[in-house]
Amino acid sequence: MGSFFGIRPQQSEPGKTRVMADLFGNPELPDEKFLKKARHLQAEIERHNELYYTKANPEISDRDFDRMMAELTDLENRFPDLRTPDSPTQRVGGRPVEGFNQVAHRVPMLSIDNSYDEQMVREFDTRVRKLLPGQKIRYVVEPKIDGVAMSATYENGLLVLGATRGDGEKGDDITTNLKTVRGIPLRLKGTGIPTMVEVRGEVYMERGDFDAINAARAEKGEEVYANPRNFTAGSLKLLDSKICASRKLRLFAHGVGAFDGPAPKTHHELLKAFSSWGIPVNEHIHVHDSIEGVLEEIARWDKLRTELSYETDGVVVKVDSLAQREAMGSTTKAPRWVIAYKFAAEQATTRLVAIDLQVGKTGTLTPVARLEPVRLAGTTVCNASLHNADFISTKDIRIGDMVVVEKAGEIIPYVIRSEPGKRDGSETPFVFPTECPVCGAPVTRDAAGAFYRCTGTECAAKLKRRLRSFAMRNAMDIEGLGAETVELLVDQGLVKSIPDLFTLTKEVVEPLPRMGKKSAASLIEGIEQSKSRGLGRLLGGLGIRHIGETIADDLARRVGNIDKLLALAEEEIANFPGMGPERAQSLFEWLHSAEGKKTISRLAELHVSMEAAASAQPAGGVDLTGKTFVLTGTLEGLDREDAERMIRERGGKATGSVSKKTNYVVAGEAAGSKLEKARELGVQVLDKSEFLQLLGIPEGKV
Ligand code: IVH
Repeated sequence: MGSFFGIRPQQSEPGKTRVMADLFGNPELPDEKFLKKARHLQAEIERHNELYYTKANPEISDRDFDRMMAELTDLENRFPDLRTPDSPTQRVGGRPVEGFNQVAHRVPMLSIDNSYDEQMVREFDTRVRKLLPGQKIRYVVEPKIDGVAMSATYENGLLVLGATRGDGEKGDDITTNLKTVRGIPLRLKGTGIPTMVEVRGEVYMERGDFDAINAARAEKGEEVYANPRNFTAGSLKLLDSKICASRKLRLFAHGVGAFDGPAPKTHHELLKAFSSWGIPVNEHIHVHDSIEGVLEEIARWDKLRTELSYETDGVVVKVDSLAQREAMGSTTKAPRWVIAYKFAAEQATTRLVAIDLQVGKTGTLTPVARLEPVRLAGTTVCNASLHNADFISTKDIRIGDMVVVEKAGEIIPYVIRSEPGKRDGSETPFVFPTECPVCGAPVTRDAAGAFYRCTGTECAAKLKRRLRSFAMRNAMDIEGLGAETVELLVDQGLVKSIPDLFTLTKEVVEPLPRMGKKSAASLIEGIEQSKSRGLGRLLGGLGIRHIGETIADDLARRVGNIDKLLALAEEEIANFPGMGPERAQSLFEWLHSAEGKKTISRLAELHVSMEAAASAQPAGGVDLTGKTFVLTGTLEGLDREDAERMIRERGGKATGSVSKKTNYVVAGEAAGSKLEKARELGVQVLDKSEFLQLLGIPEGKV
């Protein structure tokens, strides 16, 4: 069924479309000139996409690319008929999708058996030869991409379905998000395109893209992601595909599920065909005639993997002939024609030059290893975690030792052990200082013994950490007060305590490096606005041990204001729901300490609200008394704690598990089993905007 131009199966023939368009008052109909222009732009954008993402060889600047895209979007907005399903504008999903539908895989997506050494790879070869007696066997060796498995179904060359692996039998329909993976063609090009093909592969993220996104998140005070794989998995499950589109996901195809058309004879021919159709295929794929060749290549991968811009966790060895694969079959878990050789976590040996101590916001001193720079898993490592004091003593790690550092998927490398055999006698055991390295105040050891803590009330390191958490969104939410500004304010002596923040003026902050008039004004405005956040968020933001935002908020609401709180005995505080003796003791001691008293009286002088109700007044007078909510997944731009607070502020309750009694499940990105359960039980599911609407909060406010 044709239409104006190209495939738009959901539409009727051209004549009808015109009439309908007129009926609905479409002001303009595209003429030949626009049609040609749109087709040209679509083709060019796809070509540049491929050059950029598949061939890593762009011809034009990002800016020119964006211009072409804008021009096409414009044209398609004017003449919606020009917007074909495979237009590059369709990669960025318009509207958020409602949860995910499940799709059954036509051919199950199995797993792969693992091997860890040469012997195990040889045993695989023996098994293969037993199943294919006397036959010539060729193997293909490929990198094992540490990403997220996906399946993309093309019908008559058009991408019609994207799915996650799920449990292997059924996965989630992620078509909209998969279309945002730039390397993936929306329409296959070239010749020999099958009627139907299910391309299987790995969606992944380059380390550089991942690091940049994480760095930006850290700067904004948001949580950072552990590794590119988790981030990719989360991104593919985002309900709003616009956000997914911003995550720079990529694809390598490595296999095929269902196939309807002239089938290739071997795996490497299949991959070649994929490549000719515009599907990204990894460049490091080699065919070997013997297991010896395979093993030699595996040995080379130890070095090669460190030079790649993406994470790999092994190599995959596959029988090349598709007919032989067919003959070998599968176990319930994995095909017999494939084995993964898993790399050991990457390790490197280097010298431990020094042990520094980092001071956390509650004064915890965390030892950090300063190392002679060493290459590890594609990056140069200069620092590594040493866990805590006990780790250093039980492992007898000395300054000057050669130490083994390991990085296994995570971003932070760890010291695993030292190599005492390499000592020359100049090494010195590490003695935990009795004074804080930053402020000189005495250090105490906690009851469990693992952690040391600075007791200083004016420790600059502690203060910086505190100010940063004080300013965070779920605490006082001070616009314009990022990590860099905090550093400057403390280093220049402008802020010596939290209350000092509220004494700052435009004139004082403007001369700071990289500040300027505009930022100074918005910082002061941000600080001013934060004064009305109320007692709960203030207490939660002060960095009192064991007093996080949720409990502070709850307590503030029950108590009412700071004077009432100050009048309570420790036991009375302990009796509030969720408090208990440990929290009560910590809070009580702080409130009545010299530091606490001084902080409170200064904040009061500076007109910082210490009334529970200040910001807790529900907008629009929404009453959610008796309503239970379960939050699942991540709500973009809205912290879990914020969302829970908003519910509590309106009298509702946020709980952890879904039952028949649950009134609403609020599902964000990467929502999982709780969302499924809600569907099963028929509990009402809200997305972020519906949730905000229910709470009477205008979306722009979050
Ligand atoms: S072939 C029967 N090739 O690793 C499965 N898989 O740990 C055949 N993977 O689920 C898969 N890189 O998602 C194959 N070059 C590659 C791969 C690869 C990564 C993933 C795949 C699979 C998982 C198993």
